[in-house]
Amino acid sequence: MSQRALPAKILTYESINPHVKRVEYAVRGELAIRAEKLKDELSKGNSHNYNFDTVVNCNIGNPQQLKQKPITFFRQVASLMEYPDLLLPENRTQVEALYPIDAIERAQKLLEQIGSVGAYSHSQGIPYIRNHVAKFIEERDGYPANPNDIFLTQGASAGVQNILQLIITHSNVGIMIPIPQYPLYTATLALYDAQPVPYYLNEEEDWGLDISQLTSSLSAGRSKGLDTRALVIINPGNPTGQCLTEQNMREIINFCHNERIILLADEVYQTNIYQPAERPFHSFKKVLRSMGRKYEQFELFSFHSVSKGMIGECGRRGGYYECTNIDSRVVEELYKIASVSLCPNVQGQIMVDLMVQPPKRSDESYTLYQKEVDEIYMSLRRRSTKLSECFNQLEGVTCNSAQGSMYLFPRIRLPQKAIEAAHQAGKQPDEFYCLAMLDATGVCVVPGSGFGQKNGTLHFRSTFLPPEELFDGFCTRLQRFHNEFLERYHD
Ligand SMILES: Cc1ncc(COP(=O)(O)O)c(C=O)c1O
Repeated sequence: MSQRALPAKILTYESINPHVKRVEYAVRGELAIRAEKLKDELSKGNSHNYNFDTVVNCNIGNPQQLKQKPITFFRQVASLMEYPDLLLPENRTQVEALYPIDAIERAQKLLEQIGSVGAYSHSQGIPYIRNHVAKFIEERDGYPANPNDIFLTQGASAGVQNILQLIITHSNVGIMIPIPQYPLYTATLALYDAQPVPYYLNEEEDWGLDISQLTSSLSAGRSKGLDTRALVIINPGNPTGQCLTEQNMREIINFCHNERIILLADEVYQTNIYQPAERPFHSFKKVLRSMGRKYEQFELFSFHSVSKGMIGECGRRGGYYECTNIDSRVVEELYKIASVSLCPNVQGQIMVDLMVQPPKRSDESYTLYQKEVDEIYMSLRRRSTKLSECFNQLEGVTCNSAQGSMYLFPRIRLPQKAIEAAHQAGKQPDEFYCLAMLDATGVCVVPGSGFGQKNGTLHFRSTFLPPEELFDGFCTRLQRFHNEFLERYHD
């Protein structure tokens, strides 16, 4: 009897989980891989092959990769936590010469609560830190928060994934997501085998959210037979930078309430607010609480992170989510899921503690802390304006200003010949443009197709995180590249 030849490997591309293969993550996609190759080339001394000598990563909101300095107080506490022998009496004099007293005291208190950063902690997050998070939320919103409803996580990403996993019960579950969106959402939906129900943000209205869009998107989903269970709002927006008005947020809550939809509020950019008078940040929790008893059972998950704001500690993987009006038995299940991973990393939890309890006015570190935060904030604001002006000067490009977050999402209009050339090369037109930009300028941005965009429109996303001194050179190179690109593919 002849035996069929078996493949050499048990695990092959064909035999792995098909949902894994469906995952796409543009911010770490082809552009980013090509940028790494270019960096490698430059580091080998091959810069003569290019018009630039550095690659600038504008593809990902990773501030410290682009030389943003960490907040001194945060690192002082973290370093003492890492090496607690520094706090022994015999080292005290030397340590006091190097560290401010409030950093020493904070580390001592945290060590008393945590023990060693090398030990597993409570799966939901260290109770002492969750108490501080609850206090922070109460002070921010003016409404109570319960530490038992707070889960510390490995960045907001892990929290979002846990909640989506919980909500997705079958492959016909629909989750409403903005278009454009941050690809964490489409990637996670692909992985957990649920269906995105897209609603479009309005570019002409500063990427505002029109409630009629939510209604039509929900009915489109329902007409396809989808069981739409949750709505994701990213506020301030990524990649769009929009910041919702309080009135708009009330309408969104009302919509979800009427349609029996759970709200997921991704608020990781809550301190990246550049027009604070016109567009201040409001948390969904606060707006919900202000809406009174009719909404007292309204189910909300809110996410926050140490990766953004003026902190930018992305690599520490710290974050939290808060459950509002979530059934206690569901919270218990979330705890069970958290305990499968044992605990979020402890240094990330410490960073959450520092984020929610920064130095107070009376503390020795306050002046330096405030100066560092203000400098980063003012610089981000300047950079956002400078870069949007730069984009708006390019022929056929229009770019809304950033009300918040760290990104601009300019719209580009490419000649038909460029679009045809892209198709011939097997690329999306915006991807084709971004690859050409990377090769000509060393600047790595992400094509709009990675975030979703209205049919017939093309965009790219760029962070405005590179150091200010690089901006002028970057704008000149971009201008030259853009003109040459248009010239080459002139209709
Ligand atoms: C909107 C949004 N949500 C979540 C995240 C994930 O952040 P974290 O580093 O906390 O996982 C990001 C990161 O860029 C983001 O832009």
